Formats: sequence, C-alpha cells, structure tokens
Amino acid sequence: MEMSLSYTAGQHVGDDLWVSVLDGGPRQYVDLDTAATSSASVAVTRAVQEFLPWYASVHRGAGIKSQLSSARYEEAREIMVRFVGGDPATHLALFPRNTTEALNLLAFRLGLTKDDVVVTTAVEHHANLLPWRRHAQLRVVEVDDRGTFDVAAVEAALDQHPRPRVLAVTGGSNVTGWLPDLRAIAAAARQRGVLVVVDGAQLVPHRPVDITALGVDVIAFSGHKMYAPFGAGALIAPRALLAHGEPFLVGGGAVGAVSFDDVIWADGPDRDDAGSPNVVGVVALTASADELRSDGWSSVLAHEEHLLRALDSELASVPGLHRVGPVSGDRLPVAAFNLEGVPHGLLAARLANEYAIGTRSGCFCAHPYMGRLLGLSEAEVDQFHADVRAGFRHRLPGAVRVSANRQTYLTDIPLLGQALREIAASPEGGQRYALDERGDYLPQIRSRVPSTVG
Ligand SMILES: Cc1ncc(COP(=O)(O)O)c(C=O)c1O
Repeated sequence: MEMSLSYTAGQHVGDDLWVSVLDGGPRQYVDLDTAATSSASVAVTRAVQEFLPWYASVHRGAGIKSQLSSARYEEAREIMVRFVGGDPATHLALFPRNTTEALNLLAFRLGLTKDDVVVTTAVEHHANLLPWRRHAQLRVVEVDDRGTFDVAAVEAALDQHPRPRVLAVTGGSNVTGWLPDLRAIAAAARQRGVLVVVDGAQLVPHRPVDITALGVDVIAFSGHKMYAPFGAGALIAPRALLAHGEPFLVGGGAVGAVSFDDVIWADGPDRDDAGSPNVVGVVALTASADELRSDGWSSVLAHEEHLLRALDSELASVPGLHRVGPVSGDRLPVAAFNLEGVPHGLLAARLANEYAIGTRSGCFCAHPYMGRLLGLSEAEVDQFHADVRAGFRHRLPGAVRVSANRQTYLTDIPLLGQALREIAASPEGGQRYALDERGDYLPQIRSRVPSTVG
C-alpha cells in the first residue's frame, strides 16, 4: 500500500495543483479523467527538454542537428515496435497524431471496399468504428447484459458470410475499463485468416503488450494517454501490409520522384510519413515507453490494482449510485455510473466546482456502447439523435466516468467517495447550477481561480 501511495509523488507534471472551489478552498486538484488524457511524466518532459537544443528538420538537412534529429526519429521506430513486442525486421512504426489518426490511416491503406466486411464490437470507441464504416461494411459483435462479449460471440461473427477481412477490436474499454480476452480473440481471427487490429489507446498505457505473443497484427495507441502529451501516437503494423498502395496523406517526404503526371511513392515507412514529422512528440513517446519498461510494470500494475479495488469499494458505498458495465473481472481503474436524481452533467459539474475533482460525463465517444449499457431502445436512440440535430445536446443520456492511472494518488479515491456521498445527501445543491446554451451546467456564482502550490 505504501509503495502504491508514494508511486506517483513528483513523477508527473501538475500533480500539485490547487484550485479554489465554490465554497472556499483551495483544494488539491484531483484528476480522475486520466482515460481522456494523462499528465506528462517528469521523465518525458526532461527527455524533451534535453532533446530540444538538437531539434532540427528530419531527413531534409545536412547539418549535425538534422542528422541527430533524423537518427532519433528513426531509432524511435525500432523502440516503439519493440515496446509492444513486435520485431523491427517485420514490423514498422508510424507516428500519426493519435489513435484516431492511426486507425483512419490504416482503414484507408488496406484498400477496403464496400464489399468488404470488418468485424468490430459494440464496445468500441468511435475511433474504431467510424474509419472502418467509411470504407467497408461493419459486422458488430453485440454485448451481453454486463456490457461484455465472449470469444464465442466473436467466432460467430467471424464465421458469418461474407468472410471478413479485418477484426477491429479494443484492447480495453474507455467507458468501463473492461479488458477483452485479446489472446483468445486474436487466435480465433488468425485461424480464419482475418487481420487482427487492436485499438490499444487504453491498453498500452496500463499493461505490458506483446503483439507477437497475443497474435495481434496491428496496434494503434496515443502518446497523450501514456504520459507523453506532445502530439504523437503510434501505429505498429507488419511491413508487408503497408508495402504497396497510395498513402493516406500525400505530399513531401512520401515520394521517390514526382512529375506533373507521375509519382513514385517512397518505400515504407517513408511512404506513410508525408509532411514534416513531429520529432518532439516522438522523442516524448519513446521516453514514456522507456520509463514504463524500465519500471518493470510491476509497480504500475500493483498501483492500478489498488486504485481499482478502492474505486469499487468507494462507489459501492454511495447511496443511489448505479454502475454501468461490468464490476468484476480484469479491468482498468475506470468506472462509469449514475447517481439517482442527479443528471450526469450536473454531477460532474458539482464534483468539479465543489470538490475540485475532474471527471467526465456524457457518452465518452462510445455512443453505441453507452446505448447498450443504459438499455436504450431504438426509439430512444432515434429521439436523442433528433434532439442533437435540433441542438438539444444536453438531453443526451449518459453517465459520469472516473478514471485513474499511474499518476493518481490512492488518497484521491476516498475523496471521490466522500464527495459523492455528500452530493447524494444534498441533491438540492444542484439548484446553484444553470444549464448554458451549450448544455453544460455552470455554477451561478463562480469564484474558482486556478493556482499552483510549489
Ligand atoms: C479506447 C479508445 N480508442 C480510441 C481513442 C481515441 O484516442 P485519440 O483521441 O487519442 O485519438 C480513445 C480516446 O479516448 C479511446 O479511449
């Protein structure tokens, strides 16, 4: 317990912020929205600062700085391939901005047509649904009452006709923290000759990943969710998969030669690297990978297990609180819930403005999954779409999500429990808030001034 408590102290930028709250303050800021994005780690920030004097154009300049920047950038490909258990001889790393861009790039690059089927699941973030739907037909693995699915359900979808080309599945849910059995799911797809693509946005920051052992072909993830918020993510894919075809982004750097009526694309990975790359983001990404690896994962895993158990027990102690999604089994420290009589947006606003606790409310970019978890009928979904079209965004159903990671203090979780119990006991406190025209709840008296305490 001691080790977990002290794990984070001083290791993340901004873990000492204080803000004043509605009825006074200051209070230490509690960031329970780490599934959305994480703070920068101190080690990552230091690596960026050390690199910046040497920052220069990649692959374009002859100077020493340019040579050094180019070398750091190319080395990073190998580091990131190895970080997720790939082999640099057979895999390459690309550095899109984030998971969303990575999956858009991949869905474009596979040359899918509307006759192709991509099997995906009801659990997915929009980033792992919409790019596939743009290019192919989706076949969706449905969830059960717990909001999970088993391998048999994936197998059934893989066995339907026409035969799918791709299985696109999340490594971990951003709504419930649920971790599908990737190894078994990937094995089922590979036995059937289906390409396995994993949305690793939530998995990679929390668990060691070995795509070779898992039998996963492609994985995408975001630096900003793994303590490296400098604008780079990663797509790790077999070299052969991207060896041919037109790149997603076209322009300088992606070509061997260009005339007004001809273009010869560069070989990979340059083919998929048009434009000036984000070298600083990539340096940050590799520093984060090095830090996670050199910590040996065990301290992260132990800390996050403590957080999850504390979260489960605090949330269970709040009268009128209803969890959505599974509350047992292997999960990340993430939980979504509603409190009886308090709209989700108002609950998040009260946590923020009265307790300095940052959470998120809504549908978490996973509308179909939230529809299932909240048990919405088709008619209700249609109604909410009509409401959004008419500008009534605040009518969208949803939940509050809290999420924790390496940067979260174990003492933050009882603070959340205490705040929720107080709000449950004082629903009339919500009368101090008004909905603005964007559908956000704002306190009517506002006196919050962010400040840091060194
Ligand atoms: C599971 C999952 N996939 C994809 C994404 C998209 O990540 P990004 O916004 O970094 O592209 C997120 C972001 O929350 C996520 O949680």
